Amino acid sequence: MRISSQSIQQINQAIDIVEVISDFITLKKRGANYAALSPFTNEKSPSFYVSPSKQIFKCFSTTIGGDAIKFVMEIDKLSYVEALKYLAKKYNIEIVYDKVELNDQEKELQSEKDSLFIVLEYATNYYKNILSSHPDGIAIGKTYFTERGLSDKTIADFELGFALDGWDNLLIDAEKNQFNKELLQKAGVIKVNENNKTFDFFRNRVIFPIHNSTGKPIALAGRILGNDKGTAKYINSPETELYHKKDVLYGLYQAKQSIRNSENCLLVEGYMDVLSLYQAGITNVVASSGTSLTDAQTKLISRYTKSVVVLYDGDKAGINAAMRSTDLLLDSGLNIKVLVFPDGEDPDSYVNKVGATKFNEYLKNNAKDFITFKTEILLKDCENDPVKKSKVVREIVISISKIKDSVQKNVYFKLCSQLLNIEEQVIIFEHNNVTVEIEKKKLQDKLKIENKENIEQQPTQEQIDENEKYSLNLSEISITDINSISEQEIIRILLEYAEDQMDEDNNIHQFLFTYLENIVFEDVICAKIIAIFKAELAENKLPTLNYFLNHSDKLFESKLTEILTDKHEISDVWFDKYQIFVPAKDADKVGLVNKSLARLNFEKLRKRLKDNNLKLRKFDSEAIDETENLLQENMVIKQYQQIYAKELGIVIGG
Ligand code: UTP
Ligand code: MN
Repeated sequence: MRISSQSIQQINQAIDIVEVISDFITLKKRGANYAALSPFTNEKSPSFYVSPSKQIFKCFSTTIGGDAIKFVMEIDKLSYVEALKYLAKKYNIEIVYDKVELNDQEKELQSEKDSLFIVLEYATNYYKNILSSHPDGIAIGKTYFTERGLSDKTIADFELGFALDGWDNLLIDAEKNQFNKELLQKAGVIKVNENNKTFDFFRNRVIFPIHNSTGKPIALAGRILGNDKGTAKYINSPETELYHKKDVLYGLYQAKQSIRNSENCLLVEGYMDVLSLYQAGITNVVASSGTSLTDAQTKLISRYTKSVVVLYDGDKAGINAAMRSTDLLLDSGLNIKVLVFPDGEDPDSYVNKVGATKFNEYLKNNAKDFITFKTEILLKDCENDPVKKSKVVREIVISISKIKDSVQKNVYFKLCSQLLNIEEQVIIFEHNNVTVEIEKKKLQDKLKIENKENIEQQPTQEQIDENEKYSLNLSEISITDINSISEQEIIRILLEYAEDQMDEDNNIHQFLFTYLENIVFEDVICAKIIAIFKAELAENKLPTLNYFLNHSDKLFESKLTEILTDKHEISDVWFDKYQIFVPAKDADKVGLVNKSLARLNFEKLRKRLKDNNLKLRKFDSEAIDETENLLQENMVIKQYQQIYAKELGIVIGG
């Protein structure tokens, strides 16, 4: 059977691309068109456009584009036929099939995926009918759901069903309906054992079909009726071409509209949690189905909203799961809150116990942003032990480092500083250390991958030396905004004026490097650039801007683009924040070099002072000696600071 051309035409006439796409992502009007964040990538600024007049969409970050049918195919990985069926259903169009029998070749061409969809749809209906019409289905399955408080509407909305006790109830019915065993097995509804005996995958279990976001069943889950600890409570149909457990969120089809409307998604663990909340009118809820959350799942959520509340069971395992998956959620750029239930409760039991109103109140009063949540949990175990506390700081800071949005990051620095009662600067300092470590790790991984890619082409000794030469002990390095501005200015001068004359004996790079000898650059990339300069100069070579721009490490390119184009901005920031005069013009190069060096030194001292003061605060009366030393050093630092301040034309307080 083939969808008739009249039906295809009818569907094409009925569909409106904006309507179709709006079922999946939120579109914002942009002139005559609509824009959105691409559902195909994890982007931060919209590159996905829909043109209502042309009835097409285009995603510029992936180059996927086409009409509404193409969109449905792409978003849910459907075949052309399945996409048409979905759209026909959406627009209430009855599909008319051509009454031609397919020849063998055409039969083969009918994709396997389509057949799997058909089997899953069949099995869903089969189990659904048992639940509503078969005497055992009603007595056992329906009773089970009723006892757990589910209404007929919820049962219908989620197409719940029942698998009778017995080895081959479904198999027999399926064969009656012309399904062959091989296909049934592929779809995961029957199983074959070693002795080649075939039997139903689900037996004596209540059935929860798992739908994709267009509402088609792609897998089934089955729960035992009692609480027998000896049997797996839930089983899921195996992975198939349609069903990758890691990519699916249970309940998404039923929840997506509500998620979009409420601009918020509740994420729970279990099937029953979804059902009970949905029934209580809290419909913006999906389940990760017991696994810890995956990338694909967060991507799925971010199609509809950027705000998630993760609801966890109130036991140790629940809390651990909460800790694990929040970091992943942060990584995805979502705004996350966490809600933990009283011990022993899960969302299902809790909503059944207190009702929807109280549940919503609980949600409102107890959902915490993840930083507060994590900090509170971690702090519980560490009393006032400073070693444990510093570990907590590190943990939290690792989480903060996952956040992409810098404004949000700053909010968390403040919050974290209050919660832990630690100066914000220290948090930022720790954060920068962590960031450097992560960058370093990434760099190493990248090198590893590059080496793997060139497996036949082993790196030469020269290349290895090259890498060694420029690799710094990055873990000793830390960055702060303030510092990196002064460091960047030095880099800029080196790249733009290296060969200009400084004084009678020196050109600028010679002059600079005598003064840079003892200065540790803290911005990772700046430090690398300086290291490369040093190494090249030692061989009487002068690295040029192009040398860095063409370097295989693309971090140079992006850093240098930033340094060389944001001149004006750097000055403004500098001026506003620190009331330090920045020479606007480069005409006076000698002055520029002197001032930039003074500024760099001034900042290094400022930081040293801050570090010392932190140490001082930690010491107790028994560490008199160290305290003395630090105080001594601080006095010297302050004297030097005055010298540099004078040179910079600024006044610093005592
Ligand atoms: P829970 O053990 O928390 O069960 O598993 P639950 O959701 O509260 O279920 P009820 O209330 O006892 O019926 C949470 C989720 O983990 C998956 C399921 O998706 C379940 O909903 N799970 C659990 C399995 O896949 N297999 C299992 O054996 C148990
Ligand atoms: Mn439960």
